[in-house]
Amino acid sequence: MPTPVDIAPARGKLGVLLVGLGAVSTTTIAGVLAIRKGIAKPIGSLTQMGTVRLGKRTEGRSPKISDVVPLSSLDDLVFGGWDIFDDDCYAAARTAGVIEPSLLDQVRPELEKIRPWPAVFDQRYVKRLDGPNVKKGKNKKDLAEQVVADIKKFKADHALDRLVMVWCGSTEVFMTESPAHETIETFERALEENDPDIPSSMVYAYAAIREGIPYANAAPNLTADIPALVNLAAKTKTPLAGKDLKTGQTLIKTIVAPGLKARLLGVDGWYSTNILGNRDGEVLDDPESFKTKEESKKSVLDYILQPQLYPDLYAHLCHVVRINYYPPRGDNKEGWDNIDLVGWLGYPMQLKINFLCRDSILAAPIVLDVALFLDLARRANMHGIQEWLSFYFKSPVHAPGLYPEHDLFIQLMKLKNTLRFLKGEELITHLGREYYD
Ligand SMILES: NC(=O)c1ccc[n+]([C@@H]2O[C@H](COP(=O)([O-])OP(=O)(O)OC[C@H]3O[C@@H](n4cnc5c(N)ncnc54)[C@H](O)[C@@H]3O)[C@@H](O)[C@H]2O)c1
Repeated sequence: MPTPVDIAPARGKLGVLLVGLGAVSTTTIAGVLAIRKGIAKPIGSLTQMGTVRLGKRTEGRSPKISDVVPLSSLDDLVFGGWDIFDDDCYAAARTAGVIEPSLLDQVRPELEKIRPWPAVFDQRYVKRLDGPNVKKGKNKKDLAEQVVADIKKFKADHALDRLVMVWCGSTEVFMTESPAHETIETFERALEENDPDIPSSMVYAYAAIREGIPYANAAPNLTADIPALVNLAAKTKTPLAGKDLKTGQTLIKTIVAPGLKARLLGVDGWYSTNILGNRDGEVLDDPESFKTKEESKKSVLDYILQPQLYPDLYAHLCHVVRINYYPPRGDNKEGWDNIDLVGWLGYPMQLKINFLCRDSILAAPIVLDVALFLDLARRANMHGIQEWLSFYFKSPVHAPGLYPEHDLFIQLMKLKNTLRFLKGEELITHLGREYYD
């Protein structure tokens, strides 16, 4: 029997730092408060509802995940965050328009107490937004120190034991790795010199990682996915996860595509389009922010279908992704997928998917799970990139030289095997010969 990993207990309060108090963050916070009061259910959350099978199928042991590993209780979560708008969390949730007022009003006093701290923001990285609640500083290093000061004050004011940070801010313009991102030293120099290659999101990520606070990126921005911050995380023993929450259309894509590939059905074309009317949709209407999102959404199929291994089936795949900003829909996205399939002897078929989803309702349980699992990782002394959390992301961060795993079902197996490993339980391979020997 393998030995269990030593995990520190989830004692005391966990501060959840959310950068950007928009639709996703406020839906997460209001949701947790409502669930805490027993007036709503945590549907979609593995940490709250999921189980994990332990041992053989004949043993009948499938405890709740929260009974297997020590996770922070929802009662122990305290939320704080930054935004360029100074609306409190209740007003921000009303603006986002995701949760109906009758439910929000039941947690209104607690939401009103959460007021965003001034943000680190520069419009050159998010062209479609501008707001008044913004920090001033002599350079980006100074701004990072101000973020650290906010965090320290929050920790002291609420007598918090531990912290995690999740970037839930807008999608920034497309950026690639540059020399400033190479080492901790080049990065810190770039902060001092106000280098344009350091967008606002990197300033927050640096502050968190330097302080040893587990960090996740819910958006597709480059942010912590650079050698300098990965190395800093190794030095400060900080767990990292990202990027870009796997919700709506990409979630469906990573459910359907592995099925088509499993049966070796060819795919000649996959056209995805959607209409979305929230602030995220408005930001993504800018071509530079859209490019960041497009790259994240498009990589999924290449990795799942492996055209290099199956040229007859997938080498000519035409994959198109469109996002259309359409205000009347608000957060209630409607997505259409047209998939041109190829079957036996090359006969064409079509599959159409019309998903009427709610973006932030799909995202909120992920933010909660990622925050709780990253805190677990920290207490289990697991640091650096947490590949077992790929399950939650469109562009899973991964070690150099590896390809990311996008198949939702392999990702779930990896996640649950990690929990078994932490508990010293046998890993489940699904071989199953023992039942027939
Ligand atoms: N909702 C989903 O299903 C989903 C899925 C995957 C990824 N995401 C990503 O999550 C992020 C949040 O989505 P959302 O729907 O909540 O968007 P939103 O526009 O409602 O909220 C983003 C908030 O971040 C704030 N912000 C922007 N830059 C900031 C900065 N530098 N510092 C502090 N605050 C800042 C904005 O003012 C806004 O209030 C987006 O990047 C989105 O692409 C969302």
